[in-house]
Amino acid sequence: MIRRSLIVGCGAYLPERIVTNEELVTRVDTSDEWIRERTGITQRHIAADDQKTSDLAVMAGRDALSRAGISAEQLDLLIVATATPDNTFPSTATKVQAQLGMTGGAAFDIQAVCSGFIFALATADNFIRSGTVKTALVIGAETFSRILDWNDRNTCVLFGDGAGAVVLKAADMPNSTAELGVLSTHLHSDGRYHDLLYVDGGPSSGQTVGHLRMEGKEVFRHAVVNLAKVVDEALTANNLTPKDIQWLVPHQANRRILEGTARKLNFPLDQVVVTVDRHANTSAASVPLALAEAVHDGRIKQGDLVLLEAMGGGFTWGSALVRM
Ligand code: ACO
Repeated sequence: MIRRSLIVGCGAYLPERIVTNEELVTRVDTSDEWIRERTGITQRHIAADDQKTSDLAVMAGRDALSRAGISAEQLDLLIVATATPDNTFPSTATKVQAQLGMTGGAAFDIQAVCSGFIFALATADNFIRSGTVKTALVIGAETFSRILDWNDRNTCVLFGDGAGAVVLKAADMPNSTAELGVLSTHLHSDGRYHDLLYVDGGPSSGQTVGHLRMEGKEVFRHAVVNLAKVVDEALTANNLTPKDIQWLVPHQANRRILEGTARKLNFPLDQVVVTVDRHANTSAASVPLALAEAVHDGRIKQGDLVLLEAMGGGFTWGSALVRM
């Protein structure tokens, strides 16, 4: 017998307020045409003033739990991937834990910026594989609107707020049928690239929360190379070719990055889940939001082989291959 983590429910939450490209034109020197052409983004959701990252996370978590038919008391583990926590401490996950009514188990945050959900999923999967945990809720939640410099047109047009979640459940299966659930995860980071994408503040580096700073062109170049490499790595580790994958669910940073990665892999674009046009880049929330959308609208079906991938500040990057 072998133990695997099955995804038994997906959840999503997007704040009500939609900010279109046209609205941004009134704030910075930009245009709808520039944003669409360079990024594919047409709008983004922005959290209300009284909504914190934990509030978004709770909504997505509740959605995933109810679709999975699992109550919060049944959870042994809750991980929230976020780079925009409510407070410096305690973790956003412990606030979410309390709001969901989860009284046992452990809850903690993971910080790998846009790759955060993949890092959190890999962590939860390893807890399940090792037998420590049976049921886990993994959430990616962000309020990047709070760390954007709204006067910097290079960055403020690219991001949005939101949260996505999955419920993982341990299943023991004979080796011969062990091709269900999370099949593999691969994580990478390379701290030498810190200066290409970072926030210029934080508890030990100044009195401010700080703003996101980015060398967009350099990030773009690294993203296409690293994402193609990590997809290749997942395929090779599982003796697969792109033809075996039904759906690619990439981190949603920029339509041109999605297309560039798909082209590099010879992967058909109509099997790539795209939400960046409506959500913009929601960092750690983007992969679970895209996954939830494609599962709930029926594109991703039970038995489909789905490859999740992401790259973000650090740099960090990674993949997760899942048989749904
Ligand atoms: N509106 C109008 N003009 C703009 C805007 C804007 N919002 N932003 C930048 N410009 C200008 C620049 O000032 C520059 O003008 P200049 O030539 O007079 O100096 C010009 O447009 C071209 O700028 P570039 O940086 O060359 O534009 P590029 O084609 O590289 O596109 C972009 C910029 C969209 C940021 C792209 O580099 C990108 O997507 N990079 C990836 C960044 C990213 O996705 N980061 C997210 C986190 S990491 C991740 O998730 C993978």
